[in-house]
Amino acid sequence: MCGIIGYIGSDNATPYIIEGLKRLEYRGYDSAGVAVCDGENFTVVKQKGRIANLEEELKNHPVNGTVGIGHTRWATHGEPSDLNSHPHLGKQSKIAVVHNGIIENYKELRAKLSRRGIECVTETDSEVVAQLMEYYYKGDLIEAVIKTVNQLEGSYALGIMCKDEPDKIIAVKKENPLIIGGFDGSGFIASDVPAVLKHTRTIYHLNDKEIATVTRHGVSFQNINREVVSKWPETIEWSFDSAEKGGYEHFMLKEIHEQPKVVKETIGSLMNGMNKDVLDKLCEKTASFNKIIITACGTACYSGSVVKYIFEKICRMPVEVVLASEFRYSDPIVDEKTLVILISQSGETADTIAAMREAKARGAVTFSIVNAVGSTIAKETHYNIYTAAGPEIAVASTKAFSTQLISLYIFCIRFAKSLGKINDSEEQDYYSEISAIPDKITSIIENSDVIKQYAAKCFNSKSIFFIGRNIDYAISMEGSLKLKELAYIHSEAYAGGELKHGTIALIEENTTVVAIGCCKRLFSKTWSNVEQVITRGAKVLYIQCEGGEATESEHVSVANVPDINELFSPSLSVIQLQLFAYYIAANKGCDIDKPRNLAKSVTVE
Ligand code: F6R
Repeated sequence: MCGIIGYIGSDNATPYIIEGLKRLEYRGYDSAGVAVCDGENFTVVKQKGRIANLEEELKNHPVNGTVGIGHTRWATHGEPSDLNSHPHLGKQSKIAVVHNGIIENYKELRAKLSRRGIECVTETDSEVVAQLMEYYYKGDLIEAVIKTVNQLEGSYALGIMCKDEPDKIIAVKKENPLIIGGFDGSGFIASDVPAVLKHTRTIYHLNDKEIATVTRHGVSFQNINREVVSKWPETIEWSFDSAEKGGYEHFMLKEIHEQPKVVKETIGSLMNGMNKDVLDKLCEKTASFNKIIITACGTACYSGSVVKYIFEKICRMPVEVVLASEFRYSDPIVDEKTLVILISQSGETADTIAAMREAKARGAVTFSIVNAVGSTIAKETHYNIYTAAGPEIAVASTKAFSTQLISLYIFCIRFAKSLGKINDSEEQDYYSEISAIPDKITSIIENSDVIKQYAAKCFNSKSIFFIGRNIDYAISMEGSLKLKELAYIHSEAYAGGELKHGTIALIEENTTVVAIGCCKRLFSKTWSNVEQVITRGAKVLYIQCEGGEATESEHVSVANVPDINELFSPSLSVIQLQLFAYYIAANKGCDIDKPRNLAKSVTVE
């Protein structure tokens, strides 16, 4: 939800800002803007629409200066327009601000400003920040920042410039991510690491209400009481290439292809090193839990829905999967005997953060599986492991999901072992199934013709249903979500047996149904649901493990995945489902990496 970037150095700031914004575009793409300071004045350029529009405008009207801030917007308050785009300026254009988050008390603050003769000119919540800061500015920018943030309710990551103090950028945040990077004569602020990865791997993570002063000579940190805060940088291991398209038409396709590698690396990281140490410690406590709750949003939550089946089967412990957006308002039954697992690619999803804090407040032990190093969820949970997905740029999650599944599988096996539910040989059997997954994913990707051709036939469908039973049902929900978000096709995922209780009324001649049938023991049951929809005119794509019993016919196309223990089959069927959604969206000419209305990191409630 909105991306912010800032550069200070000896070069012209604009190219750095544009390049950073392009890497942050996944966070929002309703409008974009820059403010650059030439040492005396700001020049602000803002454009509705994609960053390409802003870039075009800057080609026609170049802007020069060695310090600047930029923003790409996912609109919340005020329609996407040039005017509502960031950066916002104070009344006398002394202070420029970019903001990611929501200022919940902005109406109150607007009224307060108005009483002092300062009228906001945009419809945004963010403008009050610039106006207030300028109102409070009396020659000490930090003082003005502190006075302002002390009045803000809600969430924010702010990049701030002042033309009277042109040799610095100030960064401050609460509940939204902000990193500081660089220093060899230049410094950056950014919402996320990929925005600066080309220039630096030295990154500082800002904590809530810490203030960073970034100059050409380095960065200093202080808290809201102006006490110095000592921080040590982290060196980011991600390669720059991992944030590039690398010859693929879309980031999503590249990220689908990266899955064998990142899944393998995630397995490795859980068998040795820091992730393993965390699992060792957590598994010492397994006997103290009587319940597990998995909470997350969207795709991340579906990884929990899949693993619920595995956990309950192997560990015989009840697992609830709760949408994070519902968790904190549900008066959850959680205490110190509950293990709450939080799953998040970004580690910054507002609903998941809120669920984490609620769970902690109720005494639960929290364990997170996160991709973004140093993110809020990773830092605030009692136990955290990192997935090795690397930067996921496409808005629709693929490789992060696959690494979440793998992490959960391994955690589940460790958990079962420490509870005494499985013996050494069973544990080893599970591990050998899991270690074969990367090669099996490769083979699906290399043989994607069936899916590609099927997508070419049905991309005009008005509605597509996904059905499956048991763990196949859990993964069908992810398939349906991928299709909706990428191809804008109405879709529903149904437990196969539930269809006849109402939804089957929607099946008509030529309705497309994707059936997942990797649970071989349930073949006859799933197949009877397939027969029911065929009878009503549906065309079915049946995804099954090799050796499955479904056969091709006029009404049924079969896409195989390599044979695997059914518990881990979602790691394979999901690849077919990702490819299916991808090729449907490609046939429809959709904007695959940046689907409409979406943003990758959802940092608002
Ligand atoms: C869908 C998708 C989203 C995210 C969800 C949670 O493809 O990517 O549903 O899974 O917004 O995001 P994280 O994992 O960052 O908490």
